[in-house]
Amino acid sequence: MYKQFLGLRPELRLVDVGCGTGDFTRYLVRLCSGSCTAVGVDNKQQSLQAASADTRREGLSKQISYKLGNVLNIPIADDYSDLTCCRTVLMHLQDPQKAVREMTRITKPGGLVAAIEGGRMISFLDPRDEQYTELSHEANQAWLKAVRRVEGKEFKIGERLPSIFQETGLHDIQSEIHADAWLYCDPRRRLEDIKAQLEFESSLSKESRKRDRKYLEAGGLSQAKIGHYYRKHDRRVKELLSDDRKLRTDTSFYGATFILVTGRKGQ
Ligand SMILES: C[S@@+](CC[C@H](N)C(=O)[O-])C[C@H]1O[C@@H](n2cnc3c(N)ncnc32)[C@H](O)[C@@H]1O
Repeated sequence: MYKQFLGLRPELRLVDVGCGTGDFTRYLVRLCSGSCTAVGVDNKQQSLQAASADTRREGLSKQISYKLGNVLNIPIADDYSDLTCCRTVLMHLQDPQKAVREMTRITKPGGLVAAIEGGRMISFLDPRDEQYTELSHEANQAWLKAVRRVEGKEFKIGERLPSIFQETGLHDIQSEIHADAWLYCDPRRRLEDIKAQLEFESSLSKESRKRDRKYLEAGGLSQAKIGHYYRKHDRRVKELLSDDRKLRTDTSFYGATFILVTGRKGQ
């Protein structure tokens, strides 16, 4: 889908803004399967160092270079690229349209601007605990509302991309959805990977809990519900991590979507 939708081809000149450690940049370059060139831009020097090291290791240094810079003021000349894209970057900005304007500026007339961002279609169901399912949904909605209010950011910005692109003056706007499903009982996933992921997510959740509690409250969840939600959440993680058989037979369903949008710069 990416190859066709983003028009990936040999000889393409692409720029990936907010590239982080360059995973997506390298993925796109491989999909081009030819001598395309790519520039990754990010405002975190440390991420770019990791990106360069991984790119060398993967033998792609001739095709990919990285530049330190801000997506609101991209250090690349006008009309440079055939494709300018970003993945999960606009969600972090208070003025995403400014970034899309910059992405458009550096794109050749007739070239493509593309963004891939999280969408609102999110699904979670624990078939053995409808109450926790409902509470998780409420907590998710409250958290998104608080990010909007407190930080002025739209975390699930995917569905807004077509209008942002149109207001920026891009045309031929197109969209696709990419959805992911997670099931702990899915045999294609290795037990040690699932456990490592659960442990990592649990430690992240504990690290940011003080801030998240404030956000959940700002988003309209009562203190009692917040306490109840975290108690159930922690008990659940503990149970799953202490019993491999339970983890391997857990049928809780998680689904999330990414919205891909492209727009063409006028000639
Ligand atoms: C969630 S990461 C996504 C990384 C990469 N696009 C990927 O999909 O693997 C968001 C990235 O955006 C970068 N970023 C956020 N705001 C930025 C800005 N104003 N200018 C440049 N990079 C920015 C962060 O440093 C981070 O690397």
